[in-house]
Amino acid sequence: MGFSYNMPTRRNPFSGDVLAWEPTAIAESVSMIENMKILIATEKPFAKKAVDGIKAIFAEAGYETILLEKYTDKSQLLAAVADVQGLIVRSDKVTAEVLEAAAELKIVVRAGAGYDNIDLAAAKAKGVVVMNTPGQNSNAVAELAIGMMIYMARNRFTAGTGSELQGKTVGIHAYGNVGRLVGRKAKALGMNVVAYDPFIADPEAFENDGVKQAASVEELYAASDYLSLHIPATEQTKKSIGYKLLMSMPEGATLVNTARKEVIDEDALKAALTERPTLKYITDIAPDCKDEMAELFGSRFFATPKKMGAETAEANINAGLAAARQIVDFIENGNTRFQVNK
Ligand code: 3PG
Repeated sequence: MGFSYNMPTRRNPFSGDVLAWEPTAIAESVSMIENMKILIATEKPFAKKAVDGIKAIFAEAGYETILLEKYTDKSQLLAAVADVQGLIVRSDKVTAEVLEAAAELKIVVRAGAGYDNIDLAAAKAKGVVVMNTPGQNSNAVAELAIGMMIYMARNRFTAGTGSELQGKTVGIHAYGNVGRLVGRKAKALGMNVVAYDPFIADPEAFENDGVKQAASVEELYAASDYLSLHIPATEQTKKSIGYKLLMSMPEGATLVNTARKEVIDEDALKAALTERPTLKYITDIAPDCKDEMAELFGSRFFATPKKMGAETAEANINAGLAAARQIVDFIENGNTRFQVNK
């Protein structure tokens, strides 16, 4: 069956320029489409239970689900998006080229927190709503961050005397959904928790959790035996973790990065690890120079083979189902609560 769909473009009556878009109007017109197709494009697939749950939500709404998993080439994604109205992705790159190939696309939901993989401006220019699913996979990432601290404290589970987390100070860089959960778990382990977040002005947000608020990012790093990174990759944060901050960390400190590799200045990290023989780095997002770092720093460096912070069935189910529900709620009710490209 075909469908009727008119893009609700509003134009300046004098210049003819397209005016600010109206996601609600888009949703209204999308809801008229029959045979709605939603693509799940995941190079790193969701757990089967999550896929089944997503399919069930779309089936109930009368939408068709198309699944593209473990794709190895961009051309597969470009072909798959051609006739879909909705798209669910994880860290999959939704570039201007992908958006251009998706002539009927109205909504992209990043099943997860960070949306640096999506060209927001290109989506907005095309009238495509972009959302994330904040908080849905946070516990998985927080558990991995704690696990990584223990792994490094215990000599990467090799022979020899390790150390305990209890009594040590963990610094949390960015006190959002993941950062707060890391703080709560660290406190349960008897750690001192200090956090810094330039976007949280209210001291009570920290005090209420029994967390010390660092006055500056410099103060945070200087206090942290373990530093857990939770900043997003933006133009402001890319390469922002540099030499000075790394060198200011206490003797024997460990930097834990479950955020994004781009926020680290890799040259500065190599320099700091060279000059500070007790500094350690562990991450689930391998740096570009991972082979060189493994060779240079041996047991003081560890990167998982694949990004795995959100790789739990629970996180897949929470984020995947939330993404599906948000798509249905947008199409049926025009709900744009989680839109990130307004
Ligand atoms: C996120 O931003 O939600 C996490 O980094 C998880 O990403 P993933 O879905 O690619 O595992």
